[in-house]
Amino acid sequence: MTTRRPLVIGNWKMNLDFVEALHLVQQLGVLMKNRPVEHTDVVVAAPFVDLRSVSSIIDSERFAIGLCAQHVNAQENGPHTGEISTSMLTRLNVEWVLVGHSERRVHYFMSDEIVADTLRSVVRAGQHAVLCVGEELSVRENGEHEAFVAAQLESALHGLDEKFHALLTVAYEPLWAIGTGVNATVEQVHEMTAHLRKVLRSMSFSAPQVLYGGSVNTENAATLVRESDVDGFLVGGASLKAESFYAILQACDDCYAIKR
Ligand code: PGA
Repeated sequence: MTTRRPLVIGNWKMNLDFVEALHLVQQLGVLMKNRPVEHTDVVVAAPFVDLRSVSSIIDSERFAIGLCAQHVNAQENGPHTGEISTSMLTRLNVEWVLVGHSERRVHYFMSDEIVADTLRSVVRAGQHAVLCVGEELSVRENGEHEAFVAAQLESALHGLDEKFHALLTVAYEPLWAIGTGVNATVEQVHEMTAHLRKVLRSMSFSAPQVLYGGSVNTENAATLVRESDVDGFLVGGASLKAESFYAILQACDDCYAIKR
């Protein structure tokens, strides 16, 4: 028995050209119209340059798809060449933002402090923040993964006003599972989601939504959602084809219907 509603986010990263992006959202929307996904919220994280056009298609076709940005700058405006602010995203109908994806943390030097500032800026703009946490393989091998992700949560969320709590989703994405084809086992995902929920509850988050990400595909999605306690997925590679992403949505939706 569960009351939390699942969420699946497709993270397109820096893939697809403009035409491919529009084609993908169109195909996905049609699949969802033909056989609706009833219990699961569906969101796509498109590159900045595609957001306006993807949003127009979603609006005009009335697709039940939410729009997410992959990153945002914590500042409101000013001399930040190449950056985008939350108010710019609001004007593009973006309701979700990934915060602190490991690719941003590792390759673009996003420190814990910048993650915390960005998260605050996102929720203050009224957008849903998807806080990504996860450990490197060496951290897990040393048995320090639980402490590591707890510290990531604490540094990002410490002191966050309770009025913003409902806007938070946490995505557990172990770095060793992202884009590698090696996904975490059901036991590892189950253990970590339970741990994350415990830490979040100790910080007074009442019903934290926790996703898993890392090589989720059409084969493992159903097992992960059925046998662990995740509320859905952050999907990279398998979100780039409408059919595979839709199959993940269906797997999530079917399992949720059984679990209720
Ligand atoms: P992947 O990416 O599904 O390709 O492993 C997940 C992510 O980075 O969000």
